[in-house]
Amino acid sequence: MPTPRTTIWELDEHSRGKHIVLERYLKAWLPILGTTQERIVFIDGFAGPGEYTGGEKGSPIIALEALVEHKAPITAKVHFLFIEADPRRAQHLEQLVAPLAQRLLGRATIEVKTGTFDSELSGLLNEIESRKMLLAPSFVMADPFGVSHTPMSVMSQILKNPSSEVYVSFMAEFINRFKDTELYPVS
Ligand SMILES: C[S@@+](CC[C@H](N)C(=O)[O-])C[C@H]1O[C@@H](n2cnc3c(N)ncnc32)[C@H](O)[C@@H]1O
Repeated sequence: MPTPRTTIWELDEHSRGKHIVLERYLKAWLPILGTTQERIVFIDGFAGPGEYTGGEKGSPIIALEALVEHKAPITAKVHFLFIEADPRRAQHLEQLVAPLAQRLLGRATIEVKTGTFDSELSGLLNEIESRKMLLAPSFVMADPFGVSHTPMSVMSQILKNPSSEVYVSFMAEFINRFKDTELYPVS
């Protein structure tokens, strides 16, 4: 699928698959960490606009609804950070999350940031490190279109924190197209 330029776009099959994995994973992650930790964080680093042209939910809404609908006694405060580079998509997402923010009042905080994953997360992690603190247990989703130029150093900075994990969309097909070129030799 060519990279969409519109604010919202049609859901494709592989994104539908990603969403099923995300929803099932969060259904387990929320009660495991949410009943043993005081504060947990969900970061969607390539958040998108929150919905598709057919009305299907995007990853930020799937994550918020996983908490709204969970039956477990989740006592942790959950912070949701949604990072989106395109200002129109970030604005669209802000409107969609507003009603859910009301429903989660006192249980969760929600922040939509217009910016890039790399600079927003590096800024956050460097500040935490400079204060000699640790990131609260976090689930970080990195789901770019194609290749994102996100340095692996950001991922390793996240993974240095206890109980933090990263869910990366790995574009194997895209990488296969270049594997035999001189720039990307196989061995
Ligand atoms: C594959 S879509 C995300 C879909 C969304 N995660 C979902 O599942 O509903 C990728 C999004 O990342 C945004 N984006 C592209 N480069 C980015 C960057 N460096 N940092 C943050 N967002 C970026 C695009 O505007 C697009 O909305």
